[in-house]
Amino acid sequence: MTGLDALLHEERAFPPAADVAARAHVDAARLEALVAEAEADPEAFWAARAREELVWDREPTEVLDDADAPFYRWFSDGALNASVQCLDRHLPERADQVAIAWEAEDGAVRRLTYGDLHEQVCRFAGVLRGRGVARGDRVVLYLPMVPEVVVAMLACARLGAPHSVVFAGFSAQSLADRIQDTGARLVVTADGGYRNGKVVPLKQSVDEALASCPDVADVVVLRRTGEDVPMAEGRDAWWHDLESDPGLAPVTDAESMGAEDPLFVLYTSGSTGKPKGIVHGTAGYMLWARLSTRWVFDLQDDDVYWCTADVGWVTGHTYLTYGPLANGATVVMYEGGPTYPQPDRFWDVVEKHKVTVLYTAPTAIRALMRAGDDWPARHDLSSLRILGTVGEPINPEAWMWYHRVIGGGRCPIVDTWWQTETGGILLSPLPGATTLRPGSCGPALPGLAPAVVDEQGRPVQGDEGGYLVFTRPWPSMLRGVWGDTERYRQTYWGLFDGRFYVAGDTARRDAAGDHWILGRFDDVLNVSGHRIGTMEVESALVSHPAVAEAAVVGAPHEVKGEAIHAFVVLRGEATEADLRAHVAKEIGKTARPEAIVFAEALPKTRSGKIMRRILRAVARGEEITQDTSTLEDPAVVEALRAAPVA
Ligand code: WTA
Repeated sequence: MTGLDALLHEERAFPPAADVAARAHVDAARLEALVAEAEADPEAFWAARAREELVWDREPTEVLDDADAPFYRWFSDGALNASVQCLDRHLPERADQVAIAWEAEDGAVRRLTYGDLHEQVCRFAGVLRGRGVARGDRVVLYLPMVPEVVVAMLACARLGAPHSVVFAGFSAQSLADRIQDTGARLVVTADGGYRNGKVVPLKQSVDEALASCPDVADVVVLRRTGEDVPMAEGRDAWWHDLESDPGLAPVTDAESMGAEDPLFVLYTSGSTGKPKGIVHGTAGYMLWARLSTRWVFDLQDDDVYWCTADVGWVTGHTYLTYGPLANGATVVMYEGGPTYPQPDRFWDVVEKHKVTVLYTAPTAIRALMRAGDDWPARHDLSSLRILGTVGEPINPEAWMWYHRVIGGGRCPIVDTWWQTETGGILLSPLPGATTLRPGSCGPALPGLAPAVVDEQGRPVQGDEGGYLVFTRPWPSMLRGVWGDTERYRQTYWGLFDGRFYVAGDTARRDAAGDHWILGRFDDVLNVSGHRIGTMEVESALVSHPAVAEAAVVGAPHEVKGEAIHAFVVLRGEATEADLRAHVAKEIGKTARPEAIVFAEALPKTRSGKIMRRILRAVARGEEITQDTSTLEDPAVVEALRAAPVA
């Protein structure tokens, strides 16, 4: 592959405001000093951070062990417990401070202090221990967005039993696959959960899944909806019964775990084949969860922090649970759908809880933008001070809307780039230090070493695009793929003979050192010899006022090699000719779509990522061989096939 063309040139820039910088943990000077310290001696930098940030049972003397690269080990002779970082270390000082302010879909609110959370975690760890769970045992959690899912995660961590959270929207089959792959013997679930006013029958899916999981001997069931569910004799027990058992012994002494012991396994669907169980360790992960949360969101003691991600995704692990709790933050957690009962639910939650830091995804931002400015206008959003986004490239138009309409023009936006595999944010602006450019996910955080390289692994020239790689390991990186060491080596280190961690994304870096994600490298378009990332064409389309969302893919073309097919969701009126002309004006004629399909919705994963592989099949008139059961709405695909091509 030669470099990718850089088409989009964003001129808007927002330097950090003086008042934000003045109170920030990291201002420009501090950022420069941290970067200099890390570059001078990366290991010494990480060793110092590990000493400062974590509460150790045994301080490590080792920093990085690369003897068995790419199976890197960090702080490997240290010992600690992840739940202690989130709970015990804050007590008694924060005992009465709210840890979780939970808002149910019906508007009910429950508040758990750090004291409450600690007590519940110790008790539930006692329940699990009572069912035979010991260090190293995997526990699958299939729960709705209720505080108990956090309790269960931390209880597992307390026992040193790696948890594997399965998103509650996944089918019985997906659940069974994950249970089998982890070899879990215990599943924690609920009678059901609420989503968009409907009950999601979780227990029913568990019963179905367990038909093919004979090793599961125990199911703990949380009562959430109160619906009648069958309880299998000898296997199923109610959470509240077990917890109120007078013989219960709470686990006040957390297990002392090795730094490298796995904390959790989380499956990513990946674009092909069987889902990968991404494994994270304890110390390196916790170090970066705590530090990156504080730096990136500039978390202060008076903040009310809301990350809208589901705990079924890595964002819900690092930035709803481990990161903010390790900082002693007050975390808002919301049970339901973002537009339920109407499109101002997010803004209602912000106003009601006086949220100061809001972290969400471009897919939600675009959907809320499409719903119109009247919805946020009904609410007082003046408590907000920092906004964040993650999960996909955010196109500059959506960024500007978020900045202007939600942030009132005063809140910095941190566009954070990372992956399930990276454990935490690696590329991001810092609110008090970085000049923001809409559409860019900013510079590397201190200690991280990204590069943009060509097919031979050489740095690309100027601001050409290429493969995004990392030239050094970092503490919160994945420790492997569960049960498949070769897949880890090949997927993440195979492309450049183990020299770099390969993210799978394409990117370019501008003269200021900021990164612009161009898309996944499987999605790169090749039009008349020009290599173009999907992101820039999609951004150009969305910058037309009538376009709410867009996705582009390549389909074979006799002359051009590949032609661009666009799938567009409108929020106003536009014709195909309008959009083609608009793209030509914004980024050039080469990038003009050959064909445009106007659609009601795009196929997305449950976490909101556009599934371009499905669109590719639609554009090429091919059979869809991919599993569509993990789609947010499988009906979308049929509608797309039937849609007229403009
Ligand atoms: C994409 C989510 C552009 C990217 C934390 C990455 C982004 C994949 C951004 C990981 C961003 C995530 N800008 N693209 N700010 N954040 N991505 O594992 O393609 O669900 O490789 O982790 O999402 O998705 P995952």
